[in-house]
Amino acid sequence: MWHDVFLAKMGDNLSPFIVHPDFYGMMMDRGKQIPSDNPNGWKAVAPSAIPFIEAEEAPIALDKTGIEKVKADFKAAALRTLKAGFDVIEIHAAHGYLINEFLSPLSNQRTDEYGGSFENRIRLLLEIIESIQEVWPAENPFFVRISANEWTEGGWTADDSAALGKVLINKGVDLIDCSSGGNVATAKIPLKPGYQVEFAEKVKKESGILTGAVGLITEAEQADAIIQNGQADLIFIARELLRDPYFPLRAAHELGYEVKWPDQYLRAKW
Ligand SMILES: Cc1cc2nc3c(=O)[nH]c(=O)nc-3n(C[C@H](O)[C@H](O)[C@H](O)COP(=O)(O)O)c2cc1C
Repeated sequence: MWHDVFLAKMGDNLSPFIVHPDFYGMMMDRGKQIPSDNPNGWKAVAPSAIPFIEAEEAPIALDKTGIEKVKADFKAAALRTLKAGFDVIEIHAAHGYLINEFLSPLSNQRTDEYGGSFENRIRLLLEIIESIQEVWPAENPFFVRISANEWTEGGWTADDSAALGKVLINKGVDLIDCSSGGNVATAKIPLKPGYQVEFAEKVKKESGILTGAVGLITEAEQADAIIQNGQADLIFIARELLRDPYFPLRAAHELGYEVKWPDQYLRAKW
């Protein structure tokens, strides 16, 4: 939602949805950086001028004017999101995008009030949240997606995430969506079913904020158990929905819930 052009493309039939109002990332083409002199590329900005991998073009370290523009851009994106008819907003503070880079002591090497201590590294996120809250209705859900663990020595940890939860619960944030990784190219992520659920559980239990679990959750019973066991309050599913767009209908059937089917599909109902 970084440009008005998206408003025209959204149409009328919007269900509650999640939007990342963030174009402050590297331009990528199938995992590779698009150089800034390419017509489809742009010069990335970051807390510090550190490239993701050495061979890539380094970003520009944001100055104070740039930081003010970031906050204004997020606010404008939130307003567009509201105008487009979305009910839920999620701020992307994960996966190596700009806010994640500020949170991480590895990518944030600043010496001003936005770098150094935990309080300084979370400052930009808090200011962006405040800026968005000037336009986003308090009664509409407000989520923040984080990389709860960088899987790298010296990086952002699950303990940091729980500490962030204690701050965000008092800032009008409704839920933290606990993903991980993406900010360090060499991180080794131990992939297995539900591999990030432990972070949703830890942040929830230690801070009291609602959390979402995501990552290799592919079965109805698996998702249900996470909720029933009190490990998270919401399940986010990505790839299983690409493989099976009707996963929610199948999951409801498998778990014995009655849900409304589209009228035109009623003859296919289990
Ligand atoms: C095609 C595709 C696009 C994605 N785009 C985004 C994105 O824009 N923002 C984001 O936070 N995660 C994105 N993800 C990651 C998913 O949101 C999710 O965190 C990840 O795939 C793990 O969940 P899963 O195992 O259910 O797929 C994307 C994943 C896929 C497969």
